[in-house]
Amino acid sequence: MEALAIEVKGVSAHYGAGRRRVEALKDVSVEVRRGEIFGLLGPNGAGKTTLLSCIEGLHRLDRGSICVAGIDVLHNSRPAKRKLGVQLQSTALMEGLTALELLKAYAALYEVYPTRAALMALLARFGLAEQAHKRAKQMSGGQQQRLALAIALVTDPQIVLLDEPTSALDPHARRALWEMIHAIHEEGRTIIITTHNMDEAESLCSRVAIMDAGRIVACDTPSQLIASTGARPVLRAAIELPPDDVQPLAGAVQMRRAGEYLEVETVDPTATLQSLYELAARHSRAVRDIVVRQPNLEAGLNLPEE
Ligand SMILES: Nc1ncnc2c1ncn2[C@@H]1O[C@H](COP(=O)(O)OP(=O)(O)O)[C@@H](O)[C@H]1O
Ligand SMILES: [Mg+2]
Repeated sequence: MEALAIEVKGVSAHYGAGRRRVEALKDVSVEVRRGEIFGLLGPNGAGKTTLLSCIEGLHRLDRGSICVAGIDVLHNSRPAKRKLGVQLQSTALMEGLTALELLKAYAALYEVYPTRAALMALLARFGLAEQAHKRAKQMSGGQQQRLALAIALVTDPQIVLLDEPTSALDPHARRALWEMIHAIHEEGRTIIITTHNMDEAESLCSRVAIMDAGRIVACDTPSQLIASTGARPVLRAAIELPPDDVQPLAGAVQMRRAGEYLEVETVDPTATLQSLYELAARHSRAVRDIVVRQPNLEAGLNLPEE
Protein backbone atom coordinates (compact mmCIF):
# COMPACT_ATOMS: atom_id res chain seq x y z
CA MET A 1 0.00 0.00 0.00
CA GLU A 2 1.10 3.55 -0.69
CA ALA A 3 3.15 4.84 2.28
CA LEU A 4 2.33 8.46 1.60
CA ALA A 5 -1.18 9.74 2.17
CA ILE A 6 -0.43 13.04 0.46
CA GLU A 7 2.49 14.07 -1.70
CA VAL A 8 2.73 17.72 -2.72
CA LYS A 9 5.59 18.54 -5.07
CA GLY A 10 6.69 22.03 -6.07
CA VAL A 11 3.19 23.49 -6.01
CA SER A 12 2.53 27.14 -6.84
CA ALA A 13 -0.96 28.63 -7.02
CA HIS A 14 -2.46 32.09 -7.23
CA TYR A 15 -5.67 34.11 -6.99
CA GLY A 16 -6.73 37.00 -9.17
CA ALA A 17 -5.04 38.55 -12.16
CA GLY A 18 -2.97 41.55 -13.12
CA ARG A 19 -2.41 43.95 -10.24
CA ARG A 20 -4.78 41.92 -8.08
CA ARG A 21 -2.77 38.74 -8.53
CA VAL A 22 -1.79 37.06 -5.23
CA GLU A 23 0.78 34.27 -5.18
CA ALA A 24 -0.90 32.16 -2.49
CA LEU A 25 1.46 29.15 -2.71
CA LYS A 26 5.09 29.41 -3.77
CA ASP A 27 6.88 26.18 -4.60
CA VAL A 28 5.34 24.18 -1.74
CA SER A 29 6.49 20.60 -1.23
CA VAL A 30 5.28 18.44 1.63
CA GLU A 31 4.71 14.77 2.32
CA VAL A 32 2.13 13.41 4.74
CA ARG A 33 2.60 9.78 5.76
CA ARG A 34 -0.23 7.35 6.21
CA GLY A 35 -1.59 7.38 9.74
CA GLU A 36 -0.24 10.78 10.73
CA ILE A 37 -2.04 13.67 12.33
CA PHE A 38 -0.29 16.31 10.31
CA GLY A 39 -0.58 20.00 11.17
CA LEU A 40 -0.42 23.02 8.88
CA LEU A 41 0.40 25.86 11.21
CA GLY A 42 0.58 29.49 10.20
CA PRO A 43 -0.94 32.93 10.53
CA ASN A 44 -3.98 34.08 8.54
CA GLY A 45 -3.12 34.41 4.89
CA ALA A 46 -0.23 31.93 5.05
CA GLY A 47 -1.81 29.70 2.40
CA LYS A 48 -3.16 26.84 4.53
CA THR A 49 -6.68 26.81 3.08
CA THR A 50 -5.33 27.22 -0.45
CA LEU A 51 -3.09 24.20 0.02
CA LEU A 52 -6.06 22.13 1.22
CA SER A 53 -8.11 23.34 -1.76
CA CYS A 54 -5.31 22.22 -4.09
CA ILE A 55 -5.20 18.80 -2.42
CA GLU A 56 -8.97 18.57 -2.84
CA GLY A 57 -8.56 19.38 -6.52
CA LEU A 58 -10.65 22.54 -6.11
CA HIS A 59 -7.93 25.05 -6.92
CA ARG A 60 -5.81 25.19 -10.06
CA LEU A 61 -2.08 24.66 -9.77
CA ASP A 62 0.27 26.91 -11.71
CA ARG A 63 3.06 24.43 -11.21
CA GLY A 64 3.77 21.16 -9.42
CA SER A 65 1.82 18.00 -8.72
CA ILE A 66 -0.23 16.45 -5.93
CA CYS A 67 -0.92 12.79 -5.21
CA VAL A 68 -3.56 11.56 -2.77
CA ALA A 69 -2.99 7.94 -1.69
CA GLY A 70 -0.73 7.57 -4.71
CA ILE A 71 -3.37 8.92 -7.13
CA ASP A 72 -2.58 12.05 -9.13
CA VAL A 73 -5.22 14.68 -8.25
CA LEU A 74 -4.91 16.54 -11.55
CA HIS A 75 -5.31 13.58 -13.85
CA ASN A 76 -7.51 11.37 -11.72
CA SER A 77 -9.53 13.73 -9.63
CA ARG A 78 -12.57 11.55 -8.94
CA PRO A 79 -10.79 8.51 -7.47
CA ALA A 80 -8.43 10.84 -5.60
CA LYS A 81 -11.37 12.73 -4.09
CA ARG A 82 -12.95 9.47 -2.99
CA LYS A 83 -10.05 9.03 -0.55
CA LEU A 84 -10.72 12.38 1.11
CA GLY A 85 -13.17 13.60 3.70
CA VAL A 86 -13.25 17.35 3.99
CA GLN A 87 -14.31 19.66 6.77
CA LEU A 88 -14.53 23.12 5.32
CA GLN A 89 -13.37 26.25 7.10
CA SER A 90 -16.18 28.44 8.46
CA THR A 91 -18.45 25.40 8.16
CA ALA A 92 -20.28 26.55 5.07
CA LEU A 93 -23.28 24.35 5.80
CA MET A 94 -26.34 24.74 3.66
CA GLU A 95 -28.58 26.36 6.19
CA GLY A 96 -31.92 25.18 4.92
CA LEU A 97 -31.18 21.48 5.46
CA THR A 98 -31.37 19.47 8.65
CA ALA A 99 -28.36 17.57 9.99
CA LEU A 100 -29.69 14.28 8.61
CA GLU A 101 -30.44 15.82 5.20
CA LEU A 102 -26.97 17.40 5.04
CA LEU A 103 -25.26 14.08 5.71
CA LYS A 104 -27.36 12.42 2.99
CA ALA A 105 -26.66 15.22 0.52
CA TYR A 106 -22.89 15.12 1.03
CA ALA A 107 -22.80 11.34 0.80
CA ALA A 108 -24.81 11.49 -2.43
CA LEU A 109 -22.24 13.88 -3.92
CA TYR A 110 -19.81 11.00 -3.65
CA GLU A 111 -22.40 8.47 -4.77
CA VAL A 112 -22.50 6.90 -1.35
CA TYR A 113 -25.92 6.02 0.09
CA PRO A 114 -25.71 5.09 3.79
CA THR A 115 -28.76 3.70 5.55
CA ARG A 116 -30.72 5.95 7.86
CA ALA A 117 -29.48 3.85 10.80
CA ALA A 118 -25.87 4.42 9.73
CA LEU A 119 -26.44 8.17 9.48
CA MET A 120 -28.13 8.27 12.90
CA ALA A 121 -25.19 6.32 14.35
CA LEU A 122 -22.79 8.83 12.84
CA LEU A 123 -24.73 11.75 14.36
CA ALA A 124 -24.86 9.97 17.71
CA ARG A 125 -21.12 9.44 17.61
CA PHE A 126 -20.65 13.20 17.49
CA GLY A 127 -23.24 13.89 20.17
CA LEU A 128 -25.80 15.09 17.65
CA ALA A 129 -28.53 12.45 17.91
CA GLU A 130 -30.96 15.04 19.28
CA GLN A 131 -30.04 17.44 16.48
CA ALA A 132 -30.87 15.07 13.60
CA HIS A 133 -33.89 17.12 12.52
CA LYS A 134 -32.48 20.54 13.36
CA ARG A 135 -31.09 22.91 10.77
CA ALA A 136 -27.44 23.92 11.04
CA LYS A 137 -28.36 27.54 11.76
CA GLN A 138 -30.32 26.43 14.84
CA MET A 139 -27.21 24.77 16.30
CA SER A 140 -24.47 26.13 18.52
CA GLY A 141 -20.99 26.76 17.11
CA GLY A 142 -19.67 23.57 18.70
CA GLN A 143 -22.55 21.52 17.31
CA GLN A 144 -21.95 22.95 13.83
CA GLN A 145 -18.28 22.03 13.99
CA ARG A 146 -19.19 18.50 15.08
CA LEU A 147 -21.74 18.24 12.28
CA ALA A 148 -19.01 19.32 9.85
CA LEU A 149 -16.82 16.50 11.21
CA ALA A 150 -19.67 14.01 10.76
CA ILE A 151 -20.05 15.22 7.17
CA ALA A 152 -16.32 14.77 6.58
CA LEU A 153 -16.67 11.15 7.70
CA VAL A 154 -19.91 10.21 5.96
CA THR A 155 -18.08 8.65 2.99
CA ASP A 156 -15.76 6.68 5.31
CA PRO A 157 -12.60 8.36 3.89
CA GLN A 158 -8.99 7.23 4.48
CA ILE A 159 -7.77 10.79 4.74
CA VAL A 160 -9.54 13.61 6.56
CA LEU A 161 -8.80 17.28 5.92
CA LEU A 162 -9.84 19.65 8.70
CA ASP A 163 -9.61 23.39 8.13
CA GLU A 164 -9.39 25.21 11.46
CA PRO A 165 -11.96 22.95 13.10
CA THR A 166 -11.53 24.49 16.53
CA SER A 167 -11.26 28.19 15.77
CA ALA A 168 -13.98 30.15 17.53
CA LEU A 169 -14.60 27.32 20.01
CA ASP A 170 -14.29 27.83 23.75
CA PRO A 171 -11.58 25.76 25.52
CA HIS A 172 -14.03 23.09 26.65
CA ALA A 173 -15.54 22.57 23.19
CA ARG A 174 -12.03 22.62 21.72
CA ARG A 175 -10.90 19.79 23.99
CA ALA A 176 -14.00 17.78 23.14
CA LEU A 177 -13.21 18.21 19.44
CA TRP A 178 -9.58 17.18 19.99
CA GLU A 179 -10.84 13.94 21.52
CA MET A 180 -13.04 13.30 18.50
CA ILE A 181 -10.11 13.95 16.19
CA HIS A 182 -8.01 11.47 18.16
CA ALA A 183 -10.80 8.89 17.90
CA ILE A 184 -11.01 9.39 14.13
CA HIS A 185 -7.24 8.97 13.95
CA GLU A 186 -7.36 5.78 15.99
CA GLU A 187 -9.61 4.22 13.38
CA GLY A 188 -6.56 4.29 11.12
CA ARG A 189 -7.31 7.48 9.22
CA THR A 190 -4.74 10.06 8.24
CA ILE A 191 -5.61 13.57 9.38
CA ILE A 192 -4.43 16.92 8.11
CA ILE A 193 -5.48 19.83 10.25
CA THR A 194 -4.85 23.54 9.79
CA THR A 195 -4.57 25.85 12.74
CA HIS A 196 -3.01 29.14 13.77
CA ASN A 197 -2.87 27.89 17.33
CA MET A 198 0.58 26.57 18.27
CA ASP A 199 -0.75 24.89 21.35
CA GLU A 200 -3.21 22.92 19.23
CA ALA A 201 -0.54 21.86 16.73
CA GLU A 202 1.68 20.73 19.56
CA SER A 203 -0.96 18.70 21.37
CA LEU A 204 -2.53 17.02 18.36
CA CYS A 205 0.04 16.54 15.65
CA SER A 206 2.77 14.01 15.03
CA ARG A 207 4.38 16.43 12.58
CA VAL A 208 3.81 20.06 11.79
CA ALA A 209 4.59 22.17 8.72
CA ILE A 210 4.91 25.84 9.50
CA MET A 211 3.60 28.03 6.68
CA ASP A 212 4.22 31.69 6.11
CA ALA A 213 3.44 33.86 3.09
CA GLY A 214 2.79 30.92 0.78
CA ARG A 215 5.82 28.88 1.73
CA ILE A 216 6.61 26.04 4.12
CA VAL A 217 9.34 27.41 6.33
CA ALA A 218 9.82 24.36 8.58
CA CYS A 219 8.47 20.85 8.86
CA ASP A 220 9.19 18.46 11.71
CA THR A 221 7.85 16.88 14.89
CA PRO A 222 6.73 19.43 17.49
CA SER A 223 9.60 18.50 19.79
CA GLN A 224 12.20 18.92 17.03
CA LEU A 225 10.69 22.24 16.03
CA ILE A 226 10.88 23.37 19.65
CA ALA A 227 14.49 22.17 19.94
CA SER A 228 15.43 24.03 16.77
CA THR A 229 14.23 27.33 18.25
CA GLY A 230 16.94 26.96 20.92
CA ALA A 231 14.38 27.76 23.62
CA ARG A 232 15.10 26.40 27.09
CA PRO A 233 13.07 25.65 30.19
CA VAL A 234 12.42 28.58 32.51
CA LEU A 235 12.43 28.18 36.26
CA ARG A 236 10.44 30.77 38.15
CA ALA A 237 10.37 31.12 41.91
CA ALA A 238 9.65 33.74 44.54
CA ILE A 239 12.62 34.61 46.74
CA GLU A 240 13.37 37.89 48.47
CA LEU A 241 16.99 38.84 47.95
CA PRO A 242 18.84 42.10 47.78
CA PRO A 243 18.77 43.07 44.07
CA ASP A 244 22.57 43.08 43.78
CA ASP A 245 23.00 39.73 45.45
CA VAL A 246 21.84 37.30 42.82
CA GLN A 247 24.87 35.33 41.75
CA PRO A 248 24.75 33.16 38.67
CA LEU A 249 22.99 29.89 39.48
CA ALA A 250 24.07 26.49 38.21
CA GLY A 251 22.75 25.77 34.74
CA ALA A 252 21.49 29.32 34.27
CA VAL A 253 21.79 30.86 30.84
CA GLN A 254 19.87 34.02 31.61
CA MET A 255 18.42 35.41 34.81
CA ARG A 256 16.09 38.25 35.56
CA ARG A 257 14.17 39.66 38.49
CA ALA A 258 10.47 40.39 38.21
CA GLY A 259 9.47 41.87 41.56
CA GLU A 260 9.97 39.19 44.16
CA TYR A 261 10.22 36.58 41.44
CA LEU A 262 13.38 35.30 39.91
CA GLU A 263 13.16 33.88 36.40
CA VAL A 264 15.97 31.72 35.18
CA GLU A 265 16.37 30.33 31.69
CA THR A 266 18.28 27.14 32.32
CA VAL A 267 19.85 24.16 30.60
CA ASP A 268 19.43 22.13 33.80
CA PRO A 269 16.37 22.98 35.91
CA THR A 270 17.30 20.50 38.67
CA ALA A 271 20.79 21.95 39.17
CA THR A 272 19.39 25.49 39.02
CA LEU A 273 16.79 24.72 41.64
CA GLN A 274 19.43 23.13 43.88
CA SER A 275 21.68 26.17 43.71
CA LEU A 276 18.69 28.45 44.22
CA TYR A 277 17.96 26.63 47.49
CA GLU A 278 21.60 27.04 48.53
CA LEU A 279 21.49 30.74 47.75
CA ALA A 280 18.27 31.11 49.74
CA ALA A 281 19.74 29.21 52.69
CA ARG A 282 22.77 31.53 52.78
CA HIS A 283 20.40 34.48 53.13
CA SER A 284 18.00 32.60 55.43
CA ARG A 285 15.16 33.10 52.95
CA ALA A 286 12.44 30.78 51.79
CA VAL A 287 11.86 29.79 48.16
CA ARG A 288 8.20 29.74 47.20
CA ASP A 289 5.93 29.30 44.17
CA ILE A 290 8.37 27.25 42.13
CA VAL A 291 7.32 26.65 38.53
CA VAL A 292 9.30 25.13 35.68
CA ARG A 293 7.92 25.96 32.25
CA GLN A 294 9.11 23.71 29.46
CA PRO A 295 9.52 25.47 26.15
CA ASN A 296 6.69 25.01 23.66
CA LEU A 297 6.08 26.05 20.10
CA GLU A 298 5.43 29.54 21.36
CA ALA A 299 9.04 29.47 22.51
CA GLY A 300 9.61 33.07 21.57
CA LEU A 301 7.19 33.97 24.34
CA ASN A 302 8.85 31.76 26.91
CA LEU A 303 10.27 34.60 28.96
CA PRO A 304 7.08 36.58 29.50
CA GLU A 305 7.11 40.33 29.14
CA GLU A 306 6.43 42.16 32.34
N1 LIG B 1 -10.75 33.92 -2.93
C1 LIG B 1 -9.60 34.62 -2.85
N2 LIG B 1 -9.37 35.66 -3.69
C2 LIG B 1 -8.22 36.36 -3.64
N3 LIG B 1 -7.23 36.11 -2.76
C3 LIG B 1 -7.41 35.09 -1.89
C4 LIG B 1 -8.59 34.29 -1.90
N4 LIG B 1 -8.49 33.37 -0.93
C5 LIG B 1 -7.29 33.57 -0.34
N5 LIG B 1 -6.64 34.60 -0.92
C6 LIG B 1 -5.29 35.10 -0.58
O1 LIG B 1 -4.37 34.01 -0.70
C7 LIG B 1 -3.45 34.01 0.38
C8 LIG B 1 -3.56 32.71 1.15
O2 LIG B 1 -4.84 32.62 1.75
P1 LIG B 1 -5.36 31.36 2.53
O3 LIG B 1 -4.96 30.13 1.81
O4 LIG B 1 -6.82 31.56 2.77
O5 LIG B 1 -4.53 31.45 3.89
P2 LIG B 1 -4.83 30.79 5.32
O6 LIG B 1 -5.83 29.70 5.14
O7 LIG B 1 -3.49 30.32 5.79
O8 LIG B 1 -5.36 31.90 6.19
C9 LIG B 1 -3.76 35.25 1.21
O9 LIG B 1 -2.93 36.29 0.77
C10 LIG B 1 -5.21 35.52 0.88
O10 LIG B 1 -5.48 36.89 1.01
MG1 LIG C 1 -7.65 29.41 6.06
